[in-house]
Amino acid sequence: MKNITVVGVGYVGIITGTCFADLGNNVCGLDSSEEKIASLKAGVMPIYQQGLKELADRNVKAGRLSFTTSYEEAINGHQAEFVFICVGTPEGVDGEADLKYVRAAAQSIAEVMDHPLVIINKSTVPVGTGDWVADIVREAQPELIPFSVVSCPEFLREGSAISDFMNPDRTILGSRDPEAAEKVAQLHLPLRAPIVVTNLRTAEMIKYASNAFLATKISFINEIANICEALDADVQEVAAGMGLDGRIGSAMLNAGIGYGGSCFPKDVKALAYMANVKGSHPQLLQAVMDINEFQRKTVVLKTRAILGEDLTGRTVGLLGLAFKAGTDDMREAPSVDIAQMLQAAGATVKGYDPVAMEWAARVIPNIQLADDAYDLVAGCDAVIVCTEWNEFKQLNLERAKELMKQPVIVDGRNIYDPGAMKKAGLIYRGVGRGHDGGASQTTP
Ligand code: UGA
Repeated sequence: MKNITVVGVGYVGIITGTCFADLGNNVCGLDSSEEKIASLKAGVMPIYQQGLKELADRNVKAGRLSFTTSYEEAINGHQAEFVFICVGTPEGVDGEADLKYVRAAAQSIAEVMDHPLVIINKSTVPVGTGDWVADIVREAQPELIPFSVVSCPEFLREGSAISDFMNPDRTILGSRDPEAAEKVAQLHLPLRAPIVVTNLRTAEMIKYASNAFLATKISFINEIANICEALDADVQEVAAGMGLDGRIGSAMLNAGIGYGGSCFPKDVKALAYMANVKGSHPQLLQAVMDINEFQRKTVVLKTRAILGEDLTGRTVGLLGLAFKAGTDDMREAPSVDIAQMLQAAGATVKGYDPVAMEWAARVIPNIQLADDAYDLVAGCDAVIVCTEWNEFKQLNLERAKELMKQPVIVDGRNIYDPGAMKKAGLIYRGVGRGHDGGASQTTP
């Protein structure tokens, strides 16, 4: 049992803290937001994540998980041996990561610490930040107390973050201090994953390179999807055929409307920015971003190709709004850009999402929110699938067709079978599913 403090109880922090508590450690979650901490103390989680509340409640009850806004209490009162920095690193004006919260955390830790600490960076930070954090702590300490900085990037996906934490593919640790890295490695031993120890900068780079590679896979398959449409092939089958090659793998090969969320868009941009600043030319990363931006347009282009360029007087429904299924997160959600493009072309935009409606209403001006999927399709001239929620997959197509003004479905996530769509009398366009959405191929 180790005493751990987690600074920042956003997505990464609350998952990290709760999971380490569940592994038997004594964890204190610290955040500067009084509101967040008050909610957590009242048992309200700061994020939507299945299973999190139950896990947090259990560990609070067992006395292994507590929350505070006080650095003094979280570091000294808690006698923390390890302090994880899990604060946000939002995108700066030029695409670089903004480190103001990391700086504030490092300074506050340094100002109060009265005993040696291992400070661990979990936030996604530019290469070189570990050394920078060490400098800040050293300068802000009123008196010299030993500490070490370790980089331990997170590889958690929203929606499955708890199981990703508990069953990682690997743990990456970077430090100038092998002893500190070893201590952090011990903390991760119960997770039974390979542990890779590198220097600080390399660990930070592994995080960016991993996200950039996954984003590249997505843009690659989206480009192949667009070529499939031109050549009348089906990208779903192409991806399945490719994915069986062990060197390629089937993950991240779902063609669609591109990647969104709080990680890939920001991290690819930040890596390209870091490269450009140092005079390197990140041509592939630029292409990955360009394809991703274009991909959001494709569903609007398909809708306009059927309904006409001018969408004045037309109603288009967005089925799903979150950036992916399993989360209410609207950060960089393709639906936001898609709604804006449709509105600019004159359309009235409706939307429905099982969990992201509140957030969506804040970021998509003038969107008309529907009560459920059928209320969404009612009166629509076209429906665009933006999120692959399971509950949309079994939509009663006959009923949907009856409710729609025009039976047009543009499936930005390829959740429907083109043949079944055609059979139900719907005009269907998927992503990369042949010239006409693929219906002619699967139905003789
Ligand atoms: C991503 C990474 O997968 C995590 O490993 C990483 O820790 C995290 O970023 C982070 O840096 O914090 P996440 O953003 O939660 O996790 O979501 P993913 O499930 O990876 O999906 C990202 C986006 O790609 C979504 O918009 C999703 O719809 C899209 N996507 C994913 C596709 O378009 N096709 C695919 O085949 C897979």
